[in-house]
Amino acid sequence: MADLAINLAGIRSPNPFWVASGPPSNTAYQAHRAFEAGWGGLVWKTIGDPIVNVSSRYGAWHAGGARLQGFTNIELISDRAVDTNFRELTEVKRRWPDRAVIASLMVDTRARWHEFVRRAADAGADGIELNFGCPHGMCERGMGSAVGQEPAVAERIVGWVMEAATIPVIVKLTPNITDITVAARAARAGGADAISLINTISSIVHVDLDALGPLPAVAGAGTPGGYSGPAVRPVALKMVQSCAADPAVGLPISGMGGVAQWRDAAEFLALGATSVQVCTAIMHHGFRIITDLLEGLNDYLDAHGLASVGELTGRALPAVRKWEHLDLRERRVARIDYARCIGCNLCHIACEDGAHQSIDLVPPGDRGPGPGRPPGKPIPQVREADCVGCNLCSLVCPVADCITMTTRPADGPPLTWAGYQADLAAGRIEPLPPHS
Ligand SMILES: Cc1cc2nc3c(=O)[nH]c(=O)nc-3n(C[C@H](O)[C@H](O)[C@H](O)COP(=O)(O)O)c2cc1C
Repeated sequence: MADLAINLAGIRSPNPFWVASGPPSNTAYQAHRAFEAGWGGLVWKTIGDPIVNVSSRYGAWHAGGARLQGFTNIELISDRAVDTNFRELTEVKRRWPDRAVIASLMVDTRARWHEFVRRAADAGADGIELNFGCPHGMCERGMGSAVGQEPAVAERIVGWVMEAATIPVIVKLTPNITDITVAARAARAGGADAISLINTISSIVHVDLDALGPLPAVAGAGTPGGYSGPAVRPVALKMVQSCAADPAVGLPISGMGGVAQWRDAAEFLALGATSVQVCTAIMHHGFRIITDLLEGLNDYLDAHGLASVGELTGRALPAVRKWEHLDLRERRVARIDYARCIGCNLCHIACEDGAHQSIDLVPPGDRGPGPGRPPGKPIPQVREADCVGCNLCSLVCPVADCITMTTRPADGPPLTWAGYQADLAAGRIEPLPPHS
């Protein structure tokens, strides 16, 4: 069994999985349920001056049918009384001393920040998360992403918080910004102990084509909401990687955005996260997903000879390079397993119309019919000399392991674009011939 315990800027938890600030972390009742299920930490639903919410609040994008891929919300911070939130947080921390309980906060003035930061510590929170990310409702009031999008403002407010803070402070960043490292650097300049990312992405998930208005709808109108769930994960991963790789940021990271399975979490860890937060997947499947997260991560660490989760953190970072440092000599080529090919010929169509015209349709010859493929129907055949190894055919193929990309041995030592330019300029090599 690998050691799953983490220490993020002084906040300890028995495993790296935290319930993110949101509907699943709204009450003590839910926190108890989460910790009973096995979650290592929980970031309380953002506490601030209570707001009035709208009805309805959520919308979703169901890619290709049932599975919820993208989720949008126009919900604001906690609508419960401040006293109730802090009282319940105290109860939860008393009952679960080994779990991380973090108070997410969002207020406006320096005096209010001082007051809420002190109240969070007095309530027994292990840390504070500053919500600089909510992209709707609160930003119109000068908070949330309105702060996170203005590095100078964010730095000033972090500074106010640090004047009163006696427990670790995490700044939660908005992805609604051109370069998230600018915001992360501002958090550091303000004195923050850690960053967390991403909050939700500003979005319109659907337009109701009968009512001709956005969804979710409130009395016939809508407003852009915050996007979360599996669809945002690639964006979140890139942002976590950018912050983790930037030495001027240099802060521990709690990563989130679209985590639903242990593999998702492991990817965040490999790109530099110390803890991983989850919101939408809990809203979809409940706290019980922690069982898969824990078992899967533990098995992965064991299988790869990693004694602790900390050994995974940042391990993939060295392999994330600028384009000009990729090896131009690497050649990949598509190979089709005809025993699996069902003859849908999607690979041929994708290659022919959408890529590099290197998959022909040919008579099947002695390549027997794959499952469901009518005998005699033309089958796809890769012209290996012309295949550029783009992966498209393997990505559109509906059959697992039917098309695999294999590596052809490269001639000579690695050649990067940066090295190529340098060698060309020095007259050490001839220009590579262009593709025909
Ligand atoms: C309905 C809903 C409400 C949320 N409320 C908050 C909040 O009060 N404070 C906050 O910092 N983040 C809030 N978030 C953002 C999540 O904490 C998280 O950053 C985001 O949803 C991405 O993670 P996920 O894809 O696992 O949901 C909310 C998200 C959702 C879906």
